[in-house]
Amino acid sequence: MLAVSPYNQLALSGVGPIKDIKIFDTTLRDGEQAPGIALSPEDKIRIALALDDLGVDYIEAGFAASGQTEKETITKLSGMKLDARICSLARTVKSDIDAVIDAGVDLVHTFIATSDLHMKYKLKMTPEEVRAKAIETVEYAKAHGLEVQFSCEDSTRSNLDFMKAILLDVQNAGASSVNIPDTVGVIIPRAMERLIGELHKTLSIPISVHCHNDMGLAVANTIAAVDAGATICHVCMNGIGERAGNASLEEVALNLFANYRVQTVDLSKIGSASKVVERVTGFALAGNKPIVGRNAFAHESGIHVHGIMNNTSTYEPFLPELIGVDRHIVIGKHSGVHSVRGRLDSLGIRFPNDHMNELMETIKNIAIGGKMIDDAELLAIVDNILWKKETLEKTVSLDELTVLTGKNTTSTATVSVTMGDGERRTAAETGVGPVDAAINAIRKSINEKITMEEYKLSAITGKSDSICEVTVMLKNVQNDGSLTVGKAVGLDIVETSVDATMAAINRDFARRRRE
Ligand code: KIV
Ligand code: ZN
Repeated sequence: MLAVSPYNQLALSGVGPIKDIKIFDTTLRDGEQAPGIALSPEDKIRIALALDDLGVDYIEAGFAASGQTEKETITKLSGMKLDARICSLARTVKSDIDAVIDAGVDLVHTFIATSDLHMKYKLKMTPEEVRAKAIETVEYAKAHGLEVQFSCEDSTRSNLDFMKAILLDVQNAGASSVNIPDTVGVIIPRAMERLIGELHKTLSIPISVHCHNDMGLAVANTIAAVDAGATICHVCMNGIGERAGNASLEEVALNLFANYRVQTVDLSKIGSASKVVERVTGFALAGNKPIVGRNAFAHESGIHVHGIMNNTSTYEPFLPELIGVDRHIVIGKHSGVHSVRGRLDSLGIRFPNDHMNELMETIKNIAIGGKMIDDAELLAIVDNILWKKETLEKTVSLDELTVLTGKNTTSTATVSVTMGDGERRTAAETGVGPVDAAINAIRKSINEKITMEEYKLSAITGKSDSICEVTVMLKNVQNDGSLTVGKAVGLDIVETSVDATMAAINRDFARRRRE
């Protein structure tokens, strides 16, 4: 189900039919150029397999001339007979083209800068020299059986007449497509539309675009280029790439599908391909990354969750299933009773209404600081409330707890408790660690000979900000030697251990009173 703006179709009414758009993925080349990413040959193969599975048309696998390992990896990928066509980058330098020929790829993507700025300060070449280099390189690559895509680096700051001339030259020299890179992400969508429109009138071969995201417009510029006649989109999975990255594959593919009904890749594999790239590159996605960020289909606030429960289009432009991911109804500080009740229902838990306030209060306390409570944690909290309910009115309650601990110090705890008859007791004890000290202090304060038979601590989600669950088993050796279990859930290990111990003590007292 797609729920995009109806104004889009109105705005696109003058745009001719858009079909057969090719996805040229450069995750393994421009994506890898992102500071902090360095892929091994195995990494590249894993990502290439995911991209091929996704159905991209081209995989720019790297820059063959940049080193022996790189060349060997590209050669290996070329030999894997993937459905995607394999490409290597090359400068307009004969030795670069030779390395690409050696790698056995289908296609070379060769580039030279055409802006005055780059020609003067970087290349130190005249426009005529640049033009001659471009023609010579395309002819050489063609003569060696390569399909050629030619890029005017820094196109969006290049002189239009010069660019038209050089692009016509390479078209005549046998290039099968030309690429227009917005190398430093500086063009705006309207200008991109005009630029591509002009070039579309001039050239007869396909036009590709390569947009960087320095000003946050990479995807908008890519779509504007498509509107004006570009048919190949350079993209990177998760939007990785030099500096602020490249146009993101998933965002471009989704926009083309949602607004132009153009299916470029198998959308249902976007979620998994994104995860492969995130894991292998080690480049963590921002939670709010469109389409694939962890919050893209997460809903916490009561109003939104209520809307989603009635009709997902209220707060989702498309269903998460479309891209192979799940929706998350997050339980956190902003959750309302509706969300919590809905979550419990979906987990098959029948939770009594008269304890709902306590549950909401516990959730809000735990969620302070932005913590999200997942299903396992919610279950542990519920269990704790229900379990406590089954027990008793308290015989001993903990009023104060202070623990001093550190490196090379003896952990010391002081507790104050109130006994069933109202008597207030305070005790201090040491221990091998803060938990041990706290529990020793409690034992001393209640003046009962209790031994800890078992202590179990688990971080519920295995993450460092997870809430923990503590289960203790106490033995009252002074009385009948019976065993009692106590359980508690919380954020702080010491506090939760003490809560579990107090729960067990109260249970023990209640049992003895009953008997
Ligand atoms: O951004 C760019 O200009 C490039 C070129 C190599 C095409 O990545
Ligand atoms: Zn680039």
